[in-house]
Amino acid sequence: MEFRAIADVLERKLEGKSVSIRGWVYRIRDQKEMVFIILRDSSDVIQCVVKKESVSKKVWADALKLTMESSCTLTGKIREDKRAPTGFELQVEDLEIVGLAERFPITKDKSEEFLRDVRHLWLRSRKETLILEVRAAVFEAIHQFYKERGYFEVQSPSFTSAASEGGSTLFEVKYFDRKAYLTQSWQLYAEAMIFALEKIYCVAPSFRAEKSRTRRHLAEYWHHEMETAWMDFEGLLKFQEDFIVFAAHYVAKKCARQLKELGRDTKELLELKAPFARMKYADAIKKLGKKWGYDVTDEDERKLVADLGRPVFLTHFPRDMKAFYMKVDPKDKKVVLAADLLIPGVGETTGGSARIEDSKELLESLKMFKLDKKDYDWYLDLRKFGSVPHAGFGLGVERLVMWLTGAEHIFDTIPFPRTADRLTP
Ligand code: 4AD
Repeated sequence: MEFRAIADVLERKLEGKSVSIRGWVYRIRDQKEMVFIILRDSSDVIQCVVKKESVSKKVWADALKLTMESSCTLTGKIREDKRAPTGFELQVEDLEIVGLAERFPITKDKSEEFLRDVRHLWLRSRKETLILEVRAAVFEAIHQFYKERGYFEVQSPSFTSAASEGGSTLFEVKYFDRKAYLTQSWQLYAEAMIFALEKIYCVAPSFRAEKSRTRRHLAEYWHHEMETAWMDFEGLLKFQEDFIVFAAHYVAKKCARQLKELGRDTKELLELKAPFARMKYADAIKKLGKKWGYDVTDEDERKLVADLGRPVFLTHFPRDMKAFYMKVDPKDKKVVLAADLLIPGVGETTGGSARIEDSKELLESLKMFKLDKKDYDWYLDLRKFGSVPHAGFGLGVERLVMWLTGAEHIFDTIPFPRTADRLTP
């Protein structure tokens, strides 16, 4: 028997034709002489009707046995029906139960916490399925963007011996008879690899021992990072604008059906264009009514970007608030050439900077940040053998998916979220 995907059946409008489909019971309701099944597969849903008078005794008995989330195969004729959820109905002639489901624990009005406990089952819901489809398109967009620009995809180790983004969020692990850390970023390795490949990118998990319970922090997230030789700060900001615009357009076009079903208006994505707004840290804190050194919060970020109504680069942060490898602004030694891109509804979505090129300057910076030079010996070497200006950024893939889909919580954008209080399922 040849099975068709539900989306294919709907698209081809196979009026009057007999088709076989397979999937899971999404909803079921029986009326005296009829059973209505909404069947779902990965592509869509379709209403199927089993009429007692039109099927064998066995098929009718099986239809009555079916429960929510049972898997089954159905064969029948397709008929247009405007009242059906996706406009067509399958008039069932044959039905086979593949896996009869026990009472499915997910019903309406379940708490967010409960849904997280049964994430392995909740993933099947329409909303989660659609978000995961958009997530897959984001990975596709990343690879497409870099392929068009002649970048190489490069991998770096997950076990590391030192911090790149500060000790407070480092995950310590036992590494044979030593201590090691899970990577926070590929960056230090990327800075070594640009001397060979010049233009590189990656998408890989990064780990942050974040204790803060917010709607945009994970302990393990997927990190898209880029590093480029000969790139300056201005070039870095322009590059990020191009990337974000490309990703927004790509996903809005490729996932128009999914975004519509999620209730996400794609106008904002399709109309997005460069240049984005820019704001220096000094101006941001003035706007927020705060003093120099104030740590801009998640809420502040969302407020700043909401006021502007479009993405904004927050730039020129105080040196001691950022990472040790960031290049000091030659025009204002108090600040570094770093930028966070704030996106509507989410806040910080990328973080990037121009990097220190000079070995003496890097040594001073390590000292200032109280980092042990020994841990960064090989990294210092990079400044001794043909150093060049270079820059790069990192983007939290889940935060981008939040924005693209309009998801309220980062939990919904990754199949199995890892946070301080959740390691299962
Ligand atoms: O700003 P971050 O810490 O920058 C870096 O790691 C640089 N080394 C990147 C680079 O220049 N190559 O992290 C970059 C991005 C953030 O803007 C945010 O989107 C995301 O990673 N991110 C997180 N996403 C989810 N959960 C967390 N706990 C995150 N921490 C950072």
